Amino acid sequence: MTRWANVIGTGGYLPESIRSNRDLSQMVDTTDEWIYERTGIKNRHIAADHETASSMAEIAARQAIEMANIDPQQIDLIIVATGTPDRVYPSTACLLQQRLGVRNCVGFDIQAACSGSVFGLSIADQYIRTGFAKTVLIVGTEICSRIIDWSDRSTCILFGDGAGAVLLSASEQPGILATHIHSDGGYEDLLYCPNPQAAAAAGQNEAGHIHMRGNEVFKVAVNTLGRIVDETLEANDLQQSDIDWLVPHQANTRIIAATAKKLGMDMEQVILTLENQGNTSSASVLLAFNEGIRDGRILRGHTVLMEAFGAGFTWGSALLKY
Ligand code: ACO
Repeated sequence: MTRWANVIGTGGYLPESIRSNRDLSQMVDTTDEWIYERTGIKNRHIAADHETASSMAEIAARQAIEMANIDPQQIDLIIVATGTPDRVYPSTACLLQQRLGVRNCVGFDIQAACSGSVFGLSIADQYIRTGFAKTVLIVGTEICSRIIDWSDRSTCILFGDGAGAVLLSASEQPGILATHIHSDGGYEDLLYCPNPQAAAAAGQNEAGHIHMRGNEVFKVAVNTLGRIVDETLEANDLQQSDIDWLVPHQANTRIIAATAKKLGMDMEQVILTLENQGNTSSASVLLAFNEGIRDGRILRGHTVLMEAFGAGFTWGSALLKY
């Protein structure tokens, strides 16, 4: 008997404070028009000083638990994807476990930059298929605003803060149909965030800020996401028309539009959140998925293709029947 990972709940959290393109134009030499035209972004949410990756994760997770209408004690695995953890250790998953009061399960973090949610779905799917876990909570949570150089106009316009959550449960009905994940460590220089302590030990005085060669990342992202779409359709014997919704990582509208074109989809079949959220890294796919479900676009029985690309480079897809 195949054991499938079914989606039973989703949640999302965005901090209250919003930073608009106009606000950024007061801080660096840029304009609303330039940012919107090149990226599709208008606003992004910025965490308050008291907020952390785990506090935001808790809000998103509690929403997912409420939607699923389960006792949180049923959760037997927590996976948190984040590049901006509260502490080096304990993991943000352990801190979330404490916040939720579910101390009899296992929790760990994964680091796959913007692909974190898709990698998390892939790991959870394997654990559910083998019978190791029955109910898995996956959260992508990021406070990107704390690793951004707010004087660098080429990166500060792109990122935002937020958390997205999904609860999976073992079932005999199809849920996650397949996941495909990849990484290639040969692209470190195009997109990285230094660890200041490690840099200092190596005699470099580097702040912990995102560095990105945007134009080069853009080109690799478009090609790679095109390939992952082909790989996912071929491996699962699907046609473009079998996909009801594309839920992409929200980095840039032009990258997303290229992927949609590859799928022969028009933009009405794409869940887009980046206009008002920016790139929330590992949170973005789950935030978009949550939005599509809660506003009634993604319905039970629909086939959803999620895809993401991020630092590493890492990339991947998750194909599921909702
Ligand atoms: N406002 C005005 N001008 C700007 C700004 C700005 N905010 N930022 C850069 N410019 C200038 C540059 O200085 C450059 O000027 P020059 O020609 O005089 O040198 C010019 O605009 C063009 O710069 P490019 O970097 O070539 O601009 P591009 O069209 O590539 O757009 C962008 C930049 C939006 C960053 C784009 O490259 C992009 O979206 N890249 C992909 C980002 C991505 O997908 N990241 C992956 C995930 S992130 C993660 O994993 C953490």
